[in-house]
Amino acid sequence: MAPQAYVAPVVDSSAVFKNDIFKGKVLFCTGGGSGICKGMTEAVMRHGANATIVGRKLDRLNASAAELSKITGRQCLAAQADVREPEQLKSAVAKTIEKFGRIDFVICGAAGNFLVPISGLSEKGFKTVIDIDTLGSYNTIKATLDHIRASKGAYIHVSATLHYKGTPYQVHVSAAKAAVDATSAVLAVEEGPHGVRSNVIAPGPIGGTEGVDRLSPKGKSHAANIPLGRAGHLHDIANATVFLFSGAASWVTGQVLPVDGGSEHLRQFL
Ligand code: HXC
Repeated sequence: MAPQAYVAPVVDSSAVFKNDIFKGKVLFCTGGGSGICKGMTEAVMRHGANATIVGRKLDRLNASAAELSKITGRQCLAAQADVREPEQLKSAVAKTIEKFGRIDFVICGAAGNFLVPISGLSEKGFKTVIDIDTLGSYNTIKATLDHIRASKGAYIHVSATLHYKGTPYQVHVSAAKAAVDATSAVLAVEEGPHGVRSNVIAPGPIGGTEGVDRLSPKGKSHAANIPLGRAGHLHDIANATVFLFSGAASWVTGQVLPVDGGSEHLRQFL
C-alpha cells in the first residue's frame, strides 16, 4: 500500500510569534476589504497593530473593518479609494494619519484579474489591470513613502507566481505582477538607506479567495500539483506577512517570497 501522502499543517501565526510584536504600529493595506489582503490585515492586527483598509466598495470595507476590529480587539479604519486615483489615496493616507498618527507598514494588495487570451483582450482590458496592479502600487508607494521613512517601516507587495512562466489567459496580470516585483526591488535599494524595507509575497493558489474562485475551473483540486499536499490557506500568507514586517526580517529587503507549497518548483513529465 502506498504511504499516506504528506499534507502540511495549517498554522496560525499566534502559535509562533508573540502577540504584541506590532503594538503601537499602524498598517495601511490596499485591497484589505476581502481575500488574501484581509487575512494579512487580520494577522497584523492580531499581533497588536491598528489598520486602515482601502478599497473601492465602501459597504464591503465598512463590514470588513467592523469584523476585523471585533475579532482582533484593535481599531480598523475603512477608507474608500481607487488605487488608480492618487488624490483618493492621499486622502486615505490623511485619514489614517488623523486617526492613528503614523503608518509603519504598507501592503500594496489591490488587484484585478480575469481569464482571457491575448487574442480576446482589448487594449483597455490590458491597461485596466496594469493600472490597478502596477500603477496602483506605485501610487500607494508615493502616497505613503514620507510616513514610512519617518517610521522606518516596511512595504509588502502582493504579487503572484504566474509570470515566472507563460501562464495562458494571464498576459495582463503577468505583465503587471512582473512590474510590481521590479518596483519593489528598486524601492528596496533606493530606500534602504532611509531605513525602509520592501519585499514581495507571491502567493500560490489560496483556497476560498475570490481570486481562486474566479480563476480556477469549478471543482479543480490543486493538491495534486503541490508538493506540500494541499492548497494554500490564508494563514500561510498571513504568517509570511508577520515575519516580513517583524524585526526578525530586519535584514531582509528586495526579496520575492513565493508562498506556494513548493508548486513553483514542480515540473511534471508528460
Ligand atoms: C475580457 C474583460 C473582462 C473579461 C473586463 N474586461 N473583464 N475583457 N474578459 N472577463 C475588460 C473590459 O471589457 C474593459 O475593456 C476593461 O477590461 C475594463 O473593464 P471594466 O469592467 O470597465 O473595469 P473596472 O470596472 O475598473 O473593473 C476592473 C476589473 C474587474 C479588474 C476588470 O474585474 C474588477 O474590478 N474585479 C474585482 C477585483 C478582482 O478582480 N479581484 C480578483 C483579484 S485576484 P473594453 O475594451 O471592453 O472596454 C488576483 C489574483 C491574481 O488578482 C493571481 C491569481 C493566482
